[in-house]
Amino acid sequence: MPEHIVAHSLRVAQVGVYISSYLKISGEDLDIGLVEAGGLLHDITKMDSIHTGENHALSAFRLFQTLGYHELADIVRQHVRLDQDIRHDPHINEALIVNYADKRVKHCSIVTLSERFEDLLIRYGTTPERREMIRRLYDEVSEIEFNIFKRLDIGFNSLNDLNVFEPAAKVKPEEIYK
Ligand SMILES: [Fe+2]
Repeated sequence: MPEHIVAHSLRVAQVGVYISSYLKISGEDLDIGLVEAGGLLHDITKMDSIHTGENHALSAFRLFQTLGYHELADIVRQHVRLDQDIRHDPHINEALIVNYADKRVKHCSIVTLSERFEDLLIRYGTTPERREMIRRLYDEVSEIEFNIFKRLDIGFNSLNDLNVFEPAAKVKPEEIYK
């Protein structure tokens, strides 16, 4: 995995863990470790997919299914687009958090949804149909954002404050326990 995808994934995991911790305090039943794993591994096949032309969410799904990590497989499969039933489920689950966290991280920085989608429009909005799809996705994710933060006493902008901290997963265990 190239360095820039590693840096992006570390940041997504950091955002996911942060949101999950607040959601857990507010009473949501969540597996924070699963969110962290999803954040770290969601783009694991992205580089290969650039060469093969495969959908990287699906190739990552297949990889983790083969390895027997079925819950993780389901999370990475939905990191670009969430299944409809999960979007409308009042319970917030791990796949929704990883999906949202990924939308808040541009390269390795935390940004607002509108900044992230402006960038997606420039990079992938090559036809009117694609641009329309990206705009629809933006509306969906804005709704998800509203649903997450209406349960919390922090605003969605507070995530940007994490930019000054290194993602914890970047610190190697031997550095913690020496
Ligand atoms: Fe991705």
